Amino acid sequence: MCRQARGCIRRSSNPKGEFGIYLVSDGANKPYRMKIRAPGYPHLASLNEMTRGHMLADRGGDHRYSRHRFWRDRPLMLSEKIQTRINRELKKYPADQRQSAVMAALRFVQDDKGWIDTGDMEDIAAYLGMPKMAVYEVATFYHMYNLKPMGKTTLTVCTNLSCTLCGAGDTVAYLTEKLGIGLGEVTADGRIGLREGECMGACKDAPLLTVNNKKLCGRLSKEKIDKILAELDK
Ligand code: FES
Repeated sequence: MCRQARGCIRRSSNPKGEFGIYLVSDGANKPYRMKIRAPGYPHLASLNEMTRGHMLADRGGDHRYSRHRFWRDRPLMLSEKIQTRINRELKKYPADQRQSAVMAALRFVQDDKGWIDTGDMEDIAAYLGMPKMAVYEVATFYHMYNLKPMGKTTLTVCTNLSCTLCGAGDTVAYLTEKLGIGLGEVTADGRIGLREGECMGACKDAPLLTVNNKKLCGRLSKEKIDKILAELDK
C-alpha cells in the first residue's frame, strides 16, 4: 500500500479485467484518500482485501478529476478498417448520437484483434466523442467482450438458469476435460478460450454455447461438442 507522503497508483485485477485505484497518504498511519478509476461492484467487492488495516477518508469514484486519469494520453490507434466500419455504423444514428455506435465499435475492435484493452476503449471514446468511463462501463457490462486475450476461437458456455437446469454444468465439465483448461483460460497453443456467459435469449435450445459470439450451438451433448471442436480444427 501507499506509504509515502504523496499520491500513488495501485493496479489490481478482477474477473472483468485490470483497474486502478489512486491512494493519497500523509506518510503516516493517517486516513488515506482513495479514488477508484473504474467504479463498479466487482471493484468495490475487492476493497476490503486491498485496504485491509487502513482507514479510508474517501473512496469515491470520480474519474473526472484531471490528475486521476485511468488511461494514458496517446494518438488515436484505430485502424482505417475499423474506422470505416464505425463510420458505416454511424450512418444509422443521428449526427449528435455518435455514442450509439459504441457497442458496434467494441465489436469491430474485438473482431480485428480478438480482445479489447483500455487503450482501444480510449480510442473508441475519442472517436465517438463520449466519456472514456462510459465506454469502459459498456465493455465490462456485456459478457461478449473479451477484456483479455481469449484465443483464436472463444467458446462461451451459457451458465444462466435455464441452461444450468438443462446441463450446462456437464457441458463445462466436458469442455474442461477435453481442452485441459478451466473457465476464463486459453489452451496452451492459443487456439481456444473457454468462458461462461449470461443468458443468450435462446433458452429453448439449452444447454448451449457460442463460437466467437457469432455461431450459436444448442441442445449440446458430448457428441455435439466433439463435432464443434472437430470443426475448429479444419
Ligand atoms: S439461460 Fe442459457 S440461453 Fe437462456
